[in-house]
Amino acid sequence: MERLQCRIYIVDDEPHNLTLLSKLLTRHGFTQVTVNSDPEDALLAIPKAECDLLLLDMTMPKLCGLELLEHLQPLVHGTPPLPVLVLTGDTRTDTRRAALNLGAKDFVNKPFDPPEVLCRIQNLLEARSLQKRLLDQNSELERLVTERTRQLQLNQLETVRRLGQAAEYRDDQTGTHIVRVSRAASVLAQRLGQSEEFVSAIGHAAQLHDLGKLAIPDSILLKPGRLDDQEMASMRQHVAFGADILAGSDCPILSMAEQIARYHHERWDGKGYLEGLEGLQIPLCARILSVVDVFDALTSDRPYKRAWTYSEALAEIEKGRGSQFDPDVVDQFLRVAEDIYQLNPIHP
Ligand SMILES: [Fe+2]
Repeated sequence: MERLQCRIYIVDDEPHNLTLLSKLLTRHGFTQVTVNSDPEDALLAIPKAECDLLLLDMTMPKLCGLELLEHLQPLVHGTPPLPVLVLTGDTRTDTRRAALNLGAKDFVNKPFDPPEVLCRIQNLLEARSLQKRLLDQNSELERLVTERTRQLQLNQLETVRRLGQAAEYRDDQTGTHIVRVSRAASVLAQRLGQSEEFVSAIGHAAQLHDLGKLAIPDSILLKPGRLDDQEMASMRQHVAFGADILAGSDCPILSMAEQIARYHHERWDGKGYLEGLEGLQIPLCARILSVVDVFDALTSDRPYKRAWTYSEALAEIEKGRGSQFDPDVVDQFLRVAEDIYQLNPIHP
């Protein structure tokens, strides 16, 4: 630390000592030296002084050095700690031990030997400087780690989005279905009172709900007419394919995506596929997805059907309340459909 930048605070009730020390320090390049002969005043002034070193007399009236040191404990043990150099004519072991216990770093005996005082001051300031540099480096490292973590999360989310688009491009080259479904799923999850983490996760995970369509042959996926039973059975396998691709991840978004992929065609009454789960056995994320996915499919043009109107699709969702869909999710969906619809102006 440059001497010019060091702020040194001296508390001593003897003006002669203050003059001696401040002259010594000024002569050796320390320009920011504050002296105070009143320990009570110093007690109030030191916390505001942002000093790098405190030179403290022990024997003073009204408030002795040890008492002052006791009051200054938050600074003495702060971050970085304020180094204290004790100036004392009192060579008793008890006083020294008490000062050390209160965080004093070094001692100078009165009368002073100027070269020794300077040497000890320099040592303490160097230690202080190293501590400050270490703190700066730590906070820079923390900033870098935070930035890197944020970047990794963004990259992860981008990968999820692109993976979802890859599956979507098989049968909808606009890629708008997954965008609408993901937004609707997170709005609905929020209105259902889910946590911020859940709402955010479902917004990303929903993009992968039909990931398994990557494994479905074009002859089935792109067939313009209705699927026969065998083709329908193959098509239904997309939930297993998708879930298998996503299985075993410890990333919360991919774990949720696996559940959504596997269960988004289950029905509340147990007549869905592939496992025939019913009611609350079906994870909430999949129950939400089921509603918004069907709504979006109904209101979109498909090779084999025209897009339903907004109110026709809503009526269909309401019809499935308690049979195809979780009744609570439907109730909330009907309540917020207008908001979700606003989000998706592509719908009729
Ligand atoms: Fe699906």
